[in-house]
Amino acid sequence: MNVGILGSGGREHAICFCIKKSKNVKNIYCLPGNAGTSTIAENIQIDMSDFHAIKKFTEEKKIDLLIVGPEKPLVDGIVDFFLDTKVKIFGPNQAASQLEGSKIFTKKLCEKYNIPTANFGIFQNPNESKIFLKKTNYPIVIKADGLASGKGVYICENKKDALIAIDEIFAGKFGEAKNVLIEEFLTGEEMSFFIVTDGNDIKLFNTAQDHKRVLEGDKGKNTGGMGAYSPSRLINIDLENKIINQIIHPTLEGLKEMKIEYSGFLYAGLMIKNDNPYLIEYNVRMGDPECQTILPRLESDLTNIILACCEKKLNEIEIKWKKDNSICIVLCSDGYPEKYKKNVLIKNLEKINTDDKNYCFHAGTNIIDKKTYAVGGRVLNFVSLSSNFSEARKKIFDSLNNLNWNEGFYRKDIGYKVIDK
Ligand code: AMP
Ligand code: GLY
Repeated sequence: MNVGILGSGGREHAICFCIKKSKNVKNIYCLPGNAGTSTIAENIQIDMSDFHAIKKFTEEKKIDLLIVGPEKPLVDGIVDFFLDTKVKIFGPNQAASQLEGSKIFTKKLCEKYNIPTANFGIFQNPNESKIFLKKTNYPIVIKADGLASGKGVYICENKKDALIAIDEIFAGKFGEAKNVLIEEFLTGEEMSFFIVTDGNDIKLFNTAQDHKRVLEGDKGKNTGGMGAYSPSRLINIDLENKIINQIIHPTLEGLKEMKIEYSGFLYAGLMIKNDNPYLIEYNVRMGDPECQTILPRLESDLTNIILACCEKKLNEIEIKWKKDNSICIVLCSDGYPEKYKKNVLIKNLEKINTDDKNYCFHAGTNIIDKKTYAVGGRVLNFVSLSSNFSEARKKIFDSLNNLNWNEGFYRKDIGYKVIDK
């Protein structure tokens, strides 16, 4: 079988690594991939938004299975675009991808089906929004409706911040805005909760805790994710049942009532307060860096899971997990998440030892003349598995010391909630 993987981040390198282990897979093409994927698959330079070019490529290379990593092509309808082809494409269709593509779509669904989430209001213009602000308490959360690469969310401590958020959103900072979402600020601890579904059955796909802020102690700007650990320290069978029964099932059933079938990974970003889950947001894909910390814990064959999903046979398989915990630390370029240098040489990669407990997944990297360069803000993901979170983290620190890349930085406190108590 020939497999295509769409995307170029750490998530896609981790997916590629798992697919590569499968006996049934012959060729893997990463569209466009990164330096890491180029060592285990073939990278193809292609514009991820050019669906015609991608389709043509899948025909030329006789691709049987196309796995979509990031949200943008899903929200833009790549799955619908491939409906008339023989290619099995893994991910939700455009209607289902509204769960991530429109925060307001999701909030309305929550309202209709009593799914626990922050109280909210939807406002059509700056004036209406500002009138609402007169009678509100702070902090408050203001969000642009559509995809904004994680940047369209403002946590506002006071009215001044809130006015800036409203003006920026309506001025089109995140694309044309017909409305804004204003939400109650939820307190508690966050958890990333994953399932995989074929439209009929759902299977759990484990949990993780991301660390979104750039500085230690969860301070500073929001980033794409500075590291993660898995499983979340919060998960237990009672909470799992609440999440499935109060959030996941009503969502998928609600979609079905709208004649929308959901298939693929579903990632619920949750706030857990007093052992109760509240939905912050949905993503229609695996998380990054959650994927890098979860997949090495997977005992079962990822290709089989994905194929079972495409063939609506998820009920026929069992998903098994290793007992070990895992930690992922992201090495970033100096300056990230603001301006950072591009095309910075990374030496010493050959000094990184990898085995079945220690992994190095690439993100923003590129190979030119057999040399690896950092080209993105998040550069490398170091993952380690152990029964003991602290040991896993020590192993990663050893790898980072061996690499000794002095053009970048990483958070030394990833997993502090399960280690530095
Ligand atoms: P999102 O892009 O919706 O995941 O939001 C980014 C981050 O903002 C989340 O991971 C939370 O840390 C935070 N956030 C979003 N909505 C809320 C909320 N209603 N209450 C508290 N924090 C929130
Ligand atoms: N880890 C956050 C995200 O993937 O959106």
